Amino acid sequence: MHSPYDLFLIIFGASGDLTRRKLMPALIKIYGKSSSAGSFIIIGCARTPYTDQSYRAYLKEELMHSGALTGEETEVLDDFLSIVHYQPMDPADENTYPLLNNRLKLLSGLSGNHGNYLFYLATPPLLYELVPACLCRAGLLEQPGLKRIIVEKPFGYDLASAQSLNKIYAACFREEDIYRIDHFLGKETVQNIMVTRFGSAVYEPIWNRNYIDHVEITAVENMGIGTRGGYYDGAGALRDMVQNHLMQLLAITAMEPPARFDKNGFRNEVIKVYQSLRPLTDEYIRDNVVRGQYMACDGRIGYRDEKGVRPDSRTETYIAMCLYVDNWRWQGVPFYIRTGKQMPTKVTEIVIHFKPAPMQMFQRKGGRYKGEALIIRIQPDEGILQRMVMKEPGAGFYMGTMEMDFTYDRHDRDTGDAYVRLLEDSLAGDPTLFTRSDAVEESWAYFDKLLAYWESYPDTPLYGYPAGTWGPKEADVLINRSHARWTNPCKNLTHADLYCRL
Ligand SMILES: NC(=O)c1ccc[n+]([C@@H]2O[C@H](COP(=O)([O-])OP(=O)(O)OC[C@H]3O[C@@H](n4cnc5c(N)ncnc54)[C@H](OP(=O)(O)O)[C@@H]3O)[C@@H](O)[C@H]2O)c1
Repeated sequence: MHSPYDLFLIIFGASGDLTRRKLMPALIKIYGKSSSAGSFIIIGCARTPYTDQSYRAYLKEELMHSGALTGEETEVLDDFLSIVHYQPMDPADENTYPLLNNRLKLLSGLSGNHGNYLFYLATPPLLYELVPACLCRAGLLEQPGLKRIIVEKPFGYDLASAQSLNKIYAACFREEDIYRIDHFLGKETVQNIMVTRFGSAVYEPIWNRNYIDHVEITAVENMGIGTRGGYYDGAGALRDMVQNHLMQLLAITAMEPPARFDKNGFRNEVIKVYQSLRPLTDEYIRDNVVRGQYMACDGRIGYRDEKGVRPDSRTETYIAMCLYVDNWRWQGVPFYIRTGKQMPTKVTEIVIHFKPAPMQMFQRKGGRYKGEALIIRIQPDEGILQRMVMKEPGAGFYMGTMEMDFTYDRHDRDTGDAYVRLLEDSLAGDPTLFTRSDAVEESWAYFDKLLAYWESYPDTPLYGYPAGTWGPKEADVLINRSHARWTNPCKNLTHADLYCRL
């Protein structure tokens, strides 16, 4: 274990959006907790020519106006900023790395650091393959001391690029020192899925094909692509959301209980889920994938009018799929997943729909019966809701449903921020909640088939949906196969007459 102030956290891209909005607010929280994980010094690196003083002043201004700080954090802000340094350099230019090396040596002398470096790549992805080699050649990865690296998403663009990145990182770092971040795994509610599943004598026995009819996984946003047009138009919803975040949620929902909850036990089970997915053959894709793109509606601009987007773009901003996990536990249970931009609301949730009782002894009254379900709300209003069968009050024996819900918020339980948890883990050296190289490749290998299909069949339907609605009606047809409807947590704006095929 390293001693106080014995770890340097070196952030590349320190002048950027992620550092300002997520990393620094998380780091001050960690600093404020004064746990052993809080024993670090931060060195921000980017091309913007800040000095230590001007960078601290910039951060102070940003943090004070972010609304992210509690009263206690505001009190320790100046102390926190005193452990923040800044080294101007260009992470894309190998010749500037000696500046960083010299700076680290200087700070090491002052703080007693013995070469323990944690690098954070908060830069545009094009730098992900350059930085490790530059660090290597500049002597920054030489022993003694631990050398770890955190890499932001997206890790690769397809299987070949992910494999190539993995090779580059493996040449410079040990696998257990590479922290591929998927911030969904840092969320309390996502981690809670495992506790609810494997810690409960009620849910564990029924978490299988005998009792579960189908599963829905939704991660949608009510915004467009904002300023990310240049990146998004080359990526699309599949690469941006499905290959990483939705696959993590699917894995945690479907995985077998790990023999031990540690970095190998947990991540081995994730891989097994990916390996059990029913292969994406051409025929399967035609029947089980729906993609869409948002169009202008009610004052919201269409995707093709966004900055940085090609006017004839066929990039998907919505995707719905039906997947099967072909193993003993899940045989025949469809997993419906979907993600989209410009939806009526922002929500990420998993809905487990249970099968009805084998014999229906009681009649259902009117349209009130919805079926039993467990709704795991990941964001916002983090919590869990159980919908269960109950007698309709009054005469006779009619069956209805009632909902029991728990939200962390209403019970004054702070779920914390995903980046706090993940940064704490990486400072403390625990990679359990980070994606392992084989999982990245397995997931890309699976979706490469879909990317290749779209390339081979460029006229595959891409359905336009009006911005502010729940996506193409073809996705409703998809889930109707299970005699079900998507669980839409607010009013369903259909605008059916406006749908078209692009
Ligand atoms: N922002 C988020 O909320 C968020 C969420 C999840 C994941 N991510 C991922 O985190 C990474 C960083 O995101 P971000 O939004 O902070 O990015 P960003 O603001 O576009 O870039 C971060 C910094 O990188 C430097 N930079 C940009 N282009 C460069 C180039 N060609 N060569 C060298 N340096 C360059 C810039 O600093 P200088 O100009 O000062 O050098 C910039 O401030 C991205 O990979 C993104 O996908 C971001």
